[in-house]
Amino acid sequence: MTQDQNDPIIRVEGVCKTFGSLRAVDNVSLSIQRGEFFALVGPSGCGKSTLLRMLAGFETPDAGRVFIDGRDMTGIGPNRRPVNLVFQSYAVFPHMSVAENVAYGLKIARRPHDEIAARTQEALMLVKLDGQEKKKPDELSGGQRQRVALARALIMRPAVLLLDEPLSALDAKLREAMQIELVHLQKTVGITFVIVTHDQSEALSMANRIAVMHQGAVRQIAGPAELYEAPNCRFVADFIGRINLFEGVAVPHKKGRLRIKSEVLGEIELDGQGAGAVTLAVRPEKIQISREAQTQEDTIQVRGQVADVAYYGGYSNIFIDAGAGPPIVADITNTGSAGVPRFLPGEWLWCSWRASDSLLFRD
Ligand SMILES: Nc1ncnc2c1ncn2[C@@H]1O[C@H](COP(=O)(O)OP(=O)(O)O)[C@@H](O)[C@H]1O
Ligand SMILES: [Mg+2]
Repeated sequence: MTQDQNDPIIRVEGVCKTFGSLRAVDNVSLSIQRGEFFALVGPSGCGKSTLLRMLAGFETPDAGRVFIDGRDMTGIGPNRRPVNLVFQSYAVFPHMSVAENVAYGLKIARRPHDEIAARTQEALMLVKLDGQEKKKPDELSGGQRQRVALARALIMRPAVLLLDEPLSALDAKLREAMQIELVHLQKTVGITFVIVTHDQSEALSMANRIAVMHQGAVRQIAGPAELYEAPNCRFVADFIGRINLFEGVAVPHKKGRLRIKSEVLGEIELDGQGAGAVTLAVRPEKIQISREAQTQEDTIQVRGQVADVAYYGGYSNIFIDAGAGPPIVADITNTGSAGVPRFLPGEWLWCSWRASDSLLFRD
């Protein structure tokens, strides 16, 4: 059977996995296309690693099927799948040199010596470890050890590379650099990457599509910008990026309009339908802060007192106490004169945003 290049490389259908009474993965279905950089993201314990291990064949689903490259792999063992898993704790052999570590899989596969040498060199160049062949893992930095693990997986030329929190042991600066490198590497080799991370910003910056998981289930699958700008539920809105949430109750008003009563925001009007409990949400960078009230139409605004200012150099988070609920957070970009604080704790300010920049959730 030949596969169409447009068919998904991975297709997961209704997969479940239970440990005792715990539903670790709850009826997950998704497809991943060839050449994608796909991320599984969600809070710790939501089932990401279990799902990835079912793709790798280290875990068997209780229900559902896993197809890889068009073939049903559900009962097939890890070494008979065209995938390779890079673990969180870089599993490198401490007693072997870098080159021996990288060559290991081909040696086990009894490939000819020349081929092993050539492919080892190629894999080391891909991860920028050429010249370090003879070193032992304990002579390498954490970042370099992770590259050894990557090279060891890539040398096998899998159709899909599975990466479980590959950067979580690295410090922030190195991690950012490695994120960019992984994206370049993926483009160079053209292999489908599926990465697991609990860090939503890592997923946003690296992946072209992201599945957000919560309590074993996939809540939304979308590209980074869509997840951020158009989350489909309160959980995704809150997990991806930072957001302000306001509880309220909606009543139908005019055609296609809602009137929402909220303790913090008062009575506001928005486009929308239906009635009942709602959560209105707005991202911090959509909020303007000003000393005067706004006069434009279709603006939502609320007055409050600056509670805290968190300065991050290029930008600051301003936390505004609106009298009820948690403080409202607004982002400001520090483009003005150096070191001059624009807003001070205790100051009274207006937070305002275009009504159309609000998101409305019913869950
Ligand atoms: N082998 C196992 N036996 C029992 N419980 C497990 C096992 N593996 C994972 N779990 C549980 O399943 C849930 C999901 O785990 P995991 O997939 O590792 O989450 P994540 O990778 O998102 O942090 C967790 O509650 C975890 O404790
Ligand atoms: Mg995990």
